[in-house]
Amino acid sequence: MIFGILCVSDRCFRGECEDQSGPAIAACVAPLSTKNDYLLVPDEQDQIAQALIELADHCGADVVFTTGGTGFAPRDVTPEATKAVIEKEVPGIPEAIRARSLAITDRAMLSRAVSGIRGKTLIINLPGSPKAVRESIEVVLPVLEHAVETLGGNTQSCGGNYGK
Ligand code: MTE
Repeated sequence: MIFGILCVSDRCFRGECEDQSGPAIAACVAPLSTKNDYLLVPDEQDQIAQALIELADHCGADVVFTTGGTGFAPRDVTPEATKAVIEKEVPGIPEAIRARSLAITDRAMLSRAVSGIRGKTLIINLPGSPKAVRESIEVVLPVLEHAVETLGGNTQSCGGNYGK
């Protein structure tokens, strides 16, 4: 399975801190992954949308995970960028993630994450912290193979070999 990993963070983009959530995603998907492509963008809706299109349409990712920008901060626009590029929304995924995460922290209800389908790619928003990434991703891992099979599966990929 080919994964796209998109870190959305102003601070990481400016080089003020190192992305720890992208590597956390790569570690979680390692058992399922044949290849990971990675992009890092600031909290700008157009750049997030363009990166999602790049990973889905050009890199041929089966599943794209975003991390960050799902909360209430003024510059948090990852869900809006995702909604702009998906063709079908998949509400069950963020519903399941929030339901399971609420057993860990009340703050799970502050994530506005969405999921959806663009072409043959499933896009899933995750929160920004490595802890939240791990807690969220383990909810969806068991269904990814079936989801990708149902979508028809991509075979191509581009550049990089991030975290593999
Ligand atoms: N979900 C899980 N499983 N674990 C967490 O620690 N943190 C929450 C929430 N979802 C959290 C979580 C918090 S504190 C916020 S503000 C929102 O995700 C949004 O995070 P983001 O703005 O980094 O995307």
